[in-house]
Amino acid sequence: MPGLVVVGAQWGDEGKGKVVDLLAEQADLVVRFQGGNNAGHTIVRDGEVYKFHLVPSGILYPGKLCAIGNGVVVDPKVLTSEIDDLRRRRIDISGLRISANSHLIMPYHRLLDQAGEAKLGKLQIGTTRRGIGPCYSDKAARLGIRMQDLLDEKILRKKIYAAMEPKRLTLRPFAKDPELDLHTMTEEYRILGHRLEPYIADTAPIAWRILDEGGLVVFEGAQGTMLDIDHGTYPFVTSSNPVAGSACVGAGVGPRSIDEVWGVAKAYATRVGAGPFPTELDDELGEAIRGVGGEFGTTTGRARRTGWLDLVALRYATRVNGLTGLVVTKLDVLTGIDPLHVAVRYLGPEGATFEEFPYHQSILHKARGDLIELPGWHENISGCRSIDELPRNAQSYLEYISDFLGIPILMVGVGPGRDEMIWTRAAERVRAAAA
Ligand code: GDP
Ligand code: IMO
Ligand code: MG
Repeated sequence: MPGLVVVGAQWGDEGKGKVVDLLAEQADLVVRFQGGNNAGHTIVRDGEVYKFHLVPSGILYPGKLCAIGNGVVVDPKVLTSEIDDLRRRRIDISGLRISANSHLIMPYHRLLDQAGEAKLGKLQIGTTRRGIGPCYSDKAARLGIRMQDLLDEKILRKKIYAAMEPKRLTLRPFAKDPELDLHTMTEEYRILGHRLEPYIADTAPIAWRILDEGGLVVFEGAQGTMLDIDHGTYPFVTSSNPVAGSACVGAGVGPRSIDEVWGVAKAYATRVGAGPFPTELDDELGEAIRGVGGEFGTTTGRARRTGWLDLVALRYATRVNGLTGLVVTKLDVLTGIDPLHVAVRYLGPEGATFEEFPYHQSILHKARGDLIELPGWHENISGCRSIDELPRNAQSYLEYISDFLGIPILMVGVGPGRDEMIWTRAAERVRAAAA
């Protein structure tokens, strides 16, 4: 069981962190392959809450090899503070590795992200303002600064100068910002580089070695399929590819190394930031789900938009990622809501219907979910540890999803704690094969 990819199958915040934490127990390596500190992955262990933005979700196992892959954009300030926090909590992070080829988020990226959003006004994307987009832009423009550049002051200074030069005009409003002074920035990043140096490595060969030996590598995705820059609801997306195909690129392995692709989806839907959301519940029920589900961003604290489960988007995500199975999280949040609804097609203006996820932005922006009703349940399910123990209607809800998508349900989340998870036989098989 060498390569297992875990991706978000919706708009992010599906509970990937918890799933990766659970799989990490058996893994020989966990590697993040894209995104940056726009991600917020929450793990609840023994009542303690850990929130990771950059460090892979396997880090809580002492000494576990956890790599930040080449496809990730790293804000070294955020990473060092995450490392400090873990050290304070006495977590052994000796297994942390950071790809020398990962790109760095610089102060000007953060400022450009903010300025870009301000300029868009009403049309803004609602980014996390962490500098993700501008950093990936520089990577594509070949003006990026990489982790390895931190280790040579001369190169660092030259590259910062070259990267800032074309931005001179757009950065003019920030001319007096001390963070943007070439000398100050070089010095600050040199010091951060010094702190990160023990962890900087060539991470792809670590994955190759483990894969060659038949070990388990878990590829940890950030964000979600509908936020993918190619396959999501462009332009209301992030600037990387959260889909499974990107695991190869962002970690440096070939497609033949991937055996399993697990999608993670909530039992309903949420979205942070702007953009189409065909099953959005802009009412009291949506508010109630937000309250019970604790749907406030891990990174920015923003209230997440909530809605019914969107099976049109989820079936699309199943295709785009080639999902081999689905983990459904937060089923407990739906307890007491009766009846439940799920979208099985989209309705457009003038009676148009769409069975498949529409590629055209104008259609997508007006699409509303065509909802069907499914019976709810009222029993507390947080103590259930097998599908059979779930109320009949909860089982039917899961069966409906599985049939609609044509893939098995692997795990079911019934609460935030790490033990509040149902492992189906299919998931147990993977766990056993890896052990
Ligand atoms: P990620 O970005 O995909 O890792 O997800 P987040 O951590 O941003 O958001 C998921 C939230 O749901 C976190 O606060 C988790 O602790 C919580 N969570 C995960 N699984 C479950 C579940 O099955 N039930 C409940 N009630 N909460 C869950
Ligand atoms: P995890 O890994 C949910 C959203 C932002 C915004 C859009 C673009 O925790 O699931 P960006 O800062 O990336 O340029 O913002 O993407 N977004 C997320 N939404 N979960 C995330 O990560 C997200 N990362 C970015 O809200 O709409
Ligand atoms: Mg999150």
